[in-house]
Amino acid sequence: MKIVIVGMPGAGKGTHAAALRERLQIPQISTGDMLRAAVAAGAALGRKAEGYMNRGELVPDRLIVELVERRVKEADCAGGFILDGFPRTLEQARALREAGVGIDVVLELHVPDEEVIERMTGRRSHLPSGRVYHVTRNPPKVAGADDITGEPLSVRADDAEDTVRKRIVGYHAQTGPLLDYYRRLAASEPGAPRYIRVDGSGSVAASRTRVFAALGIA
Ligand code: AP5
Repeated sequence: MKIVIVGMPGAGKGTHAAALRERLQIPQISTGDMLRAAVAAGAALGRKAEGYMNRGELVPDRLIVELVERRVKEADCAGGFILDGFPRTLEQARALREAGVGIDVVLELHVPDEEVIERMTGRRSHLPSGRVYHVTRNPPKVAGADDITGEPLSVRADDAEDTVRKRIVGYHAQTGPLLDYYRRLAASEPGAPRYIRVDGSGSVAASRTRVFAALGIA
């Protein structure tokens, strides 16, 4: 299955994409994780992207499109993939289509703005792997440490409340039109990706059950 997960910052894209990766045994492609890895490595892409990310702005389409197009053509994506955080503008969706990358399902995770802010301020991240936790809603087994490696967890630079609010405004302005585009495409074009909107609010377990049910996965 080729799945696109779209949702606000903190909607749970990374959390549910990781669960789907385990369940379906297909790669999770997170553009946020790819960019953070490039920043950590001091790569040219990271140097260009870092300022945008820290300000809570999207990086320019040209920096991200080619990266994803190359990644989905790798051998491990032949049986499907989960795009986590891409596309998030109309231009990115059109580029994917023009590159001939087929998508089966677009899954929108819907969460109210105020719940997102509460989630982000409690998020703790294991940056090398992309695993995420929440201090109360999804705590690690040992406070402050990654469950698998035991390494310390971090607070992401863009999770400060002011930056989160800016990312939410940007989401409505830039990703809102993308959702309209996919909704219209699903309703009007045979063979277009299915469009599913799932309630991503509440507990991790409850929203994961809704995500799996919407995709027809037991
Ligand atoms: P990215 O890393 O993709 O950030 P984002 O879209 O802002 O999303 P987040 O990772 O913050 O949240 P999420 O939806 O994955 O939620 P999570 O599962 O962690 O991108 C970062 C930056 O990179 C962007 O701002 C931009 O600059 C750049 N970028 C990336 N892709 C780009 C693109 N395509 N184009 C341009 N620029 C791009 O969950 C959040 C927290 O909630 C966790 O702590 C989790 O444990 C907790 N939680 C609580 N309840 C639940 C629940 N019910 N379900 C799931 N999680 C829950």
